[in-house]
Amino acid sequence: MIDYKLKGMLNAHTVVSGDYTNSSNKDNTHIFGQVISGTESSEMMNYLLNMNKQRISDFKSMMIYNESNRAAIINQARVMEEVIDERTIILPNPVKKLKVNFSEILQNRRSIRSFTKLIMDKGDLSSILHYAFGFQKRKTNFDGIVNRGRFYSSGGGLYPIDVYIYCNYVDTIYPGFYKYQPYSNSLYPLDINRVEKTNFFIDNMIDIENMNLALFFEYTIDKTYLKYGELSLLNVLVETGIMSHNFDLVCTAMGYRSCPIAGYDKNYLEQILNLDSVNEHIIFSNICGRE
Ligand SMILES: Cc1cc2nc3c(=O)[nH]c(=O)nc-3n(C[C@H](O)[C@H](O)[C@H](O)COP(=O)(O)O)c2cc1C
Repeated sequence: MIDYKLKGMLNAHTVVSGDYTNSSNKDNTHIFGQVISGTESSEMMNYLLNMNKQRISDFKSMMIYNESNRAAIINQARVMEEVIDERTIILPNPVKKLKVNFSEILQNRRSIRSFTKLIMDKGDLSSILHYAFGFQKRKTNFDGIVNRGRFYSSGGGLYPIDVYIYCNYVDTIYPGFYKYQPYSNSLYPLDINRVEKTNFFIDNMIDIENMNLALFFEYTIDKTYLKYGELSLLNVLVETGIMSHNFDLVCTAMGYRSCPIAGYDKNYLEQILNLDSVNEHIIFSNICGRE
């Protein structure tokens, strides 16, 4: 049965699509028809149609990055971005091995939006963050500069995504926002007051009361645009998906559940996290808790 309140939205027969003043009656089916025939412009379509276009500036910048070993040089210095002081929460050592069979993890992963209120152990948090976003033992020598590998792949090895965490219900960690620091496997408190967690997600199906934590993936444009130009967007959206899925799989392996979420309030989160919303953007989110 269709909810009667939605009746107006589902009425597809009153649209006179040739009438340009009738814009309030448009829906995506009608808009798609116009976009595909080229009479209405779409930012998404423009991006897709031009995705493989390489400008001379793109070739130049990519060559400069590759020839000058720039990713390795940047990565060598990135440990210095992390703040280690008396307020840093150094997480306990992660488990040495995730002892769940890989096919079992794949079979069991699913998106869960309501949780049982069970506190997350700090060691579990450490293992989840380390194996989702941290460093492997693998080391690679790039022309004399040694970089450590991470548990996820990254376009050009530039790792442009930072992870902000809202700890809701984690053992001995005061509820609030923290930045994850992968080199030291630590959390740095952001001291953000007056957080209204009911504003995080558009969808009221998300159990923000009982979740253990929410993650927000932040992209800083200049970390990739200087090399890839317009190709950056494709790369970072794919990379964030990879990170989010890694997180899903590790949560499952640790006996937790997660849910990737595109329906977050971008403006609210960027404002509360003090991001500039020009160079810095929240581009995806995920949550975690016990079923
Ligand atoms: C890119 C992406 C965006 C998503 N956004 C939301 C969302 O905003 N809200 C939500 O409840 N679930 C969201 N999900 C979860 C999907 O609804 C879920 O993956 C899908 O229903 C398949 O179910 P499964 O993950 O349990 O296999 C999203 C998943 C992906 C991959």
